[in-house]
Order: sequence, then C-alpha cells, then structure tokens
Amino acid sequence: MRLDKFLCDLQIGSRSSVKEAIKNGMITVNGICIKMPNFKVDKDHDCITYKGEQLTYQSLYYYILHKPAGIVTATKDCHDKTVMDLLPQAIRKDLFPVGRLDKDTEGLLLLTNDGMLCHNLLSPKKHIEKTYYVECTGSINSDKLSQLELGVDIGDDKPTLPARVKLLSTHDTGYIVELTITEGRFHQVKRMIAAIEGCVSYLKRLSIGPLILGDLPKGAYRPLTNTEVDCLKNYPVIIQQERKRSNYTMDVLFGIPSDIEQWMKLVKRVSWNFPGLETEESIEEHSQTVLEFMSKKQALCIKYNHEIVGVLLFSRSHNMICCLAVSPEYRCHGIGSALLTKALSELDRSKSICVSTFRENDKKGIAPRKLYKKFGFKEAELIKEFGYPNQKFILYP
Ligand code: URA
Repeated sequence: MRLDKFLCDLQIGSRSSVKEAIKNGMITVNGICIKMPNFKVDKDHDCITYKGEQLTYQSLYYYILHKPAGIVTATKDCHDKTVMDLLPQAIRKDLFPVGRLDKDTEGLLLLTNDGMLCHNLLSPKKHIEKTYYVECTGSINSDKLSQLELGVDIGDDKPTLPARVKLLSTHDTGYIVELTITEGRFHQVKRMIAAIEGCVSYLKRLSIGPLILGDLPKGAYRPLTNTEVDCLKNYPVIIQQERKRSNYTMDVLFGIPSDIEQWMKLVKRVSWNFPGLETEESIEEHSQTVLEFMSKKQALCIKYNHEIVGVLLFSRSHNMICCLAVSPEYRCHGIGSALLTKALSELDRSKSICVSTFRENDKKGIAPRKLYKKFGFKEAELIKEFGYPNQKFILYP
C-alpha cells in the first residue's frame, strides 16, 4: 500500500497533511527517511515511524457508547445532538452507528467503520440477539408474556419472531421486562409492547450478541477489546453452528425428579396453549402428574445449555402421547421430532398409538399437527378435552 494511505488510515492527518509530513522528512521506513508519498510499504512487516514513534497499522475501529436519551442515532442532524457529538473530534470521522436507537432510548450503541461487520450484525438472516430493559405501563399476565415469546402482530407483513421475555417486576400501574429479540424492526420493542396493550415508558439496550453494556457510564464510550471484536466477528457463525448442532446432538433424556422445577418453568411459559392448565391449582396438579410419569419412565425431555427446552409425556398403558411442549425460541430445531421419535420407540407399535391436539384452524391453539402427520398419524374423531374442542390423531400399526 502507499505510504500516504498507510498514514491516512491511522488518522495521522488528512491526505494533504500527511503528504506534507512525508515531504518534510518526518517518516522513516525500516530506518530510512522516505520523502515520496507514493512509496509502497508492507503494512504488516515494515517498521514505519512518525516523529520517531513506531506505528502499528489499524484501519478498522470499534467503540461501544452508552447512549443517553435525547440524542439521535445519526452521523449528522440539523436540529439535534447526534451520538457522534459524544465522541471527541480526534476520533475517526468515518465511524458510523450500527443500527439505531430511538431518540428517547438509552443504552448500548456500537460505532465502527467496519462495513462488513455492520452488515453482518444488521442482516435479518443472522438473527443477532439484542436484549432490552423495558419499563412499561399497563398490565401483564402469562398470556401476554407468551404472546411476546411466540411472536406478535405489530402491523407488518409477518408477526415478530419468537423472543425471550423475563418479567423482572410488576407494580400498580406497570411492569418491567427484559426482552431479547433477534430482529431489528422499526420501533420494534415499543410496537411489541403496544401489541399487548402496554406502553413503553423507558427503554435501554443492554446487549447486542456477545457485547454487553455493563457499567459503562451514561454518555461514555470506550474502544472494544480485541476479544470483544473477535467475539462479535465470530458471533453469527457461532450461532449458526449451534443451531445446526442442536438438530443433531440434542439428547432425549428421561426426566428425573430433580428436573421438576425446570420442567414446570417451561410448562408455565406455554400453559396458555394447553387447555386444563389455566389455574395455579391445575399447574400444581400437573407437576404431580409429571412426577408420576417420571417415576414410570414416561417423561422425556431435551436439555440445551442446562435448560429444559422440550418435554413429552407418554403413557404405556394407554399407548398414547399425552403432552408435547417445546420452548418458543427453540421451535423448528427438530426438538419435537426427537422427542416423538423416542416416545414412539417406547410405545407398542403393533397397536394403534393416539394423541389429541387442537383442531385445524383453531386460532388459539399452536399445535404440532404437521409433526404428527409427518410421523404418519391420521386425523381421527373430533373430541373435547378439558371442555375444549380437540382432534384425535391415530398412528395405525
Ligand atoms: N425498539 C424500539 O422500539 N426502540 C429502540 O430504540 C430500539 C428497539
């Protein structure tokens, strides 16, 4: 590369000022004073000094900023202060924010001049997780939390993708959640909360993929460490590998009593989708049933990162599948198939095996009807379970 380009990339000065510095003999390459701006240097191997100090080549820069409210995420704005105004002049002018936070949103903003990384982090195909701390007004219940988890209609072509939601606290007029989403739609968090009849009163981004805001003070910035840059660059790849791996190596285990707390955590998250699990008492009763099934080795689960992400109960005496549930954010990873395959191997295939699930076009029920059909189950009679209209499926011998 040209010597003047090398110096410009390091922000030693503008193109004309670095040419001036070179002509004035302020630069040495491998111990020799070079006065030609177009002199070719090897950025990785040559020893280049400016005013006697050795320079190390770097062209890509990464900063994390704790954006305060009242500032716009832009490089220029006629009316408002921008996030760039929070960085000193001396810092590169070619930085840009990766994605945007609303004017009233606070929290983690990544600034870089690495267009490729920016593209990767924002690409809808990469599903980079972004976690927000969200204070809301309105009421919350398990149904609304499940709606957020499964995806809500925010007025776009498609509902939002499954999200992770942690209810942190509730009070008279509102609640606080931690929400992890994998898309970056316009005003997404605010629109998701609006979709469950709430309103965001305070929003702060806590993390983007592996990058965490931590205790960086509001309005402050810092360069990323090399490790953080490496993690960010490799993150989409890691996620994709994990997704692939998850299809192949998830082991189906027999649930044991010490799993019960984790097991019920999953059941509670999806309970709104299971008639018969509407009340605290029915959930408590169900947990006793699960323990009974565990003792008979009729309770299967799949764990991922020590968390139970899928469960299935089956009955040998009735030759039936009794209950199948998969964590919303782990759907479409082959978990249902893996559980069902194992359960069928434990049941008597010389006789009919049955299962019942929501009827076709049932708006309330998210049912694995397709999965059962894929395994050869045939639609049988319409029935009612816990007073709810259901349909029996039968797998004939
Ligand atoms: N979602 C929003 O609604 N606003 C933001 O600033 C970020 C995510």
